[in-house]
Amino acid sequence: MLDFLFKLLDSGSLSPHGICLIWRPELLWSNALADAAIGLAYCSISIALGAVVSRRSDIAFGWVFWCFVTFILACGATHFISIVTLWWPIYGVEAMVKVITAIASVATAIILWPLVPRILNLPSPQLLRLANESLTLRIAERDRALQALEQVTNERAKTEEMLRQAQKMEAIGQLTGGIAHDFNNLLNVVVANLERIERLLPDQSPLLRPVKDAMAGADRAAALTHKLLAFARNQPLRPVRVEVNALLGALTELLRGAVGGRIVVETNFSLDLWAVTVDPNQLENAVLNLAVNARDAMEENQSSRLQITTSNIDRSDAIHIGGLRADQDYVMIEVIDTGVGMPEEVARRAFEPFFTTKPLGQGTGLGLSQVFGFVKQSGGHADIFSKAGLGTRVQLFLPSLGPERPQPVSYEVQDMPGHPRSQGALTAR
Ligand SMILES: Nc1ncnc2c1ncn2[C@@H]1O[C@H](COP(=O)(O)OP(=O)(O)O)[C@@H](O)[C@H]1O
Ligand SMILES: [Mg+2]
Repeated sequence: MLDFLFKLLDSGSLSPHGICLIWRPELLWSNALADAAIGLAYCSISIALGAVVSRRSDIAFGWVFWCFVTFILACGATHFISIVTLWWPIYGVEAMVKVITAIASVATAIILWPLVPRILNLPSPQLLRLANESLTLRIAERDRALQALEQVTNERAKTEEMLRQAQKMEAIGQLTGGIAHDFNNLLNVVVANLERIERLLPDQSPLLRPVKDAMAGADRAAALTHKLLAFARNQPLRPVRVEVNALLGALTELLRGAVGGRIVVETNFSLDLWAVTVDPNQLENAVLNLAVNARDAMEENQSSRLQITTSNIDRSDAIHIGGLRADQDYVMIEVIDTGVGMPEEVARRAFEPFFTTKPLGQGTGLGLSQVFGFVKQSGGHADIFSKAGLGTRVQLFLPSLGPERPQPVSYEVQDMPGHPRSQGALTAR
């Protein structure tokens, strides 16, 4: 083997390729320059290929490119050797380089054929673009679904919170109602006995004054119990048909006096307002309570406004308002002020009895709870919309008979003597 190599590399008896070209410079140099250019180009191509493949690990079948690099480099080397053999007869080295080139080219050719179908199966850039577009669409769809889910979750949380609040109000109402009811009975006993003592005492008795004071205290306690019973939806109500606009119109003068001369009181009544069936005194009391709260929340200046509006809420609209029945028409009274408004936690608790943010002695926390209890006991609903610094809007929904809808007429078939039933007379009921 070594012997073969020595023989191969022995160039003693050989003459350079230039001799064949009889050393004609134009042949020598055009061959040399062409081989140099081809060799350099091959080197440059393989370096560029190598640089691409080594930096892009995601290229499919990257190792085949390394085979190309080797094969092209080997081809380049044969051209450089050809330049050398023009002057030096190193044909043994040339043969070895050619053998290496042959191995690299044949191996690459063999490897390449089985790869052809697999390379053809690779997705085209257009297919990839389409897949990408469909993926983008699906991502957008998923984002939308996530957004909808988030919205539903938020709504659910809000509904749960409302339910918790309603249950809390129900529980407080029951407790308050029970206590107020028993307390009222005991108070009746106290008042009846105080009245008896008052009757029995002689006119000049020094005990008359303390008894009167005791009765005044008992009267205040009775008024408080009444407010508690109102919240507990347990006050005696006398519902009658009420034209709300007329009632509020008559009340407005009283309200102007109650809120002070500098606060503007505006009314905006719906002309064709339906009638309601409620206790008119309690309704006046409720609106008065709301107006007093509005006054307390506003500064006494000309930019302060108290607005009272009325409107009809048809059953088809009632469906969309929480707390209202979908088969019932309502009349809505809104009391709107431009006052300090309420932070969220105050608005959430404002209807609770004894909840007040006013200093001791100024607020009892029973105003809104009475309003709430009265409206609920009347089959209606109350809502507060308020934001700190942005005023307050309290809405009272009172059940109404709605527009004068023609009553459905049903007919009864009366048997007529001597006639079959199907021919009976129709009588409107
Ligand atoms: N129009 C309003 N503007 C701002 N806050 C209000 C308004 N109405 C009620 N509130 C808040 O709700 C609380 C409860 O009101 P209410 O039940 O009438 O009791 P009170 O007036 O005795 O405090 C008030 O203390 C106040 O914080
Ligand atoms: Mg109040």
